[in-house]
Amino acid sequence: MIDSNTLIFDSIRPVLWRDDGLRLLDQRKLPDHEVYLHISSTQALCTAIKDMVVRGAPAIGIAAAYGVVIAAKEASMDSTPGFEEAFQQRLDLLASSRPTAINLFNALEAAKQVPDPTNNLLAWANGWFNEDIAANKSMSKLGAHYLKQGSRVLTHCNAGALATGGYGTALGVIRTGFQQGVIDNIYAGETRPWNQGSRLTLWEFHKEKIPVTLLADSAAATLMKKGEIDWIIVGADSVCLNGDIVNKVGTYSLAVLAKYHGVKLMTVAPTTTINFNAQSGEDVIIESRSAEEILPKCYNQTEVSALNPVFDVTPADLITVIVTEKGVIESPNASKMQALINQR
Ligand code: MRU
Repeated sequence: MIDSNTLIFDSIRPVLWRDDGLRLLDQRKLPDHEVYLHISSTQALCTAIKDMVVRGAPAIGIAAAYGVVIAAKEASMDSTPGFEEAFQQRLDLLASSRPTAINLFNALEAAKQVPDPTNNLLAWANGWFNEDIAANKSMSKLGAHYLKQGSRVLTHCNAGALATGGYGTALGVIRTGFQQGVIDNIYAGETRPWNQGSRLTLWEFHKEKIPVTLLADSAAATLMKKGEIDWIIVGADSVCLNGDIVNKVGTYSLAVLAKYHGVKLMTVAPTTTINFNAQSGEDVIIESRSAEEILPKCYNQTEVSALNPVFDVTPADLITVIVTEKGVIESPNASKMQALINQR
């Protein structure tokens, strides 16, 4: 008999710290190969984030937190500009890796406040990592509370263990709902072009024997029309001060469809995903990635163009509830966001 307070389905850790440095589960190789890369320099970490070895906003933030430990070690051996300047140069390098996941910048800012960095940063980074997992588990219970018996849920991208320290945000809620027996069907959108849904979400759930049904992204509308989805549950790369969220491209389309069909939308994100520089989604930098990611290999990429924005903005008024570890916000807006921030 499983104690319903003990969360199971918690076997995946994409970011690990070992005595000789950082290990990242190479998400480009999943689901075919499960290999961890050893990352021993800030330059290597910057490349790994850019190339999506590690991805998902909280996981990027955790990798950056450990990257700061590496940066401090490198800076202490770099006698030319002095520690402060050498350290800052490396933080700037990490900050240049990807622009949209605010957890990266929040982790770098928090690291700068740590006194005596050479001695204290590792304990701080371990704290950042452990608090993320704890936040996911708190959010999973808060979010699952909204799911009625027999719920059918659709998720987009991968907001799972792979995108966090472990357990996941949106997939954490779904894991908990499944454990509680209130979810009948889990649908995962493919999430073209990088296929976070078909490669990563399916891998995670298959590994833990949680049944999931893959859906072409464009099939979601018809399922909603037929009344076969109750909740769309997603993560976020930035939660803005007015309650807008920025998440994987395609989230906005799902949100508009959800509104039209009377389907509810839940965003699950820890407070480390709050973007204090963004009054609204308009203020968030939306990453554009290479056209190569969407052009078929046979096309001549010098003659054919393609646009590849990889995130979009979902306005607050399309969101039913934002779940954070500090509490939930129904029908989000600026004043409710401010109240949540004040109680942090
Ligand atoms: O480009 P990615 O794979 O890093 O994008 C990830 C997402 O959009 C996730 O939904 C988001 O980071 C939340 S992860 C808990």
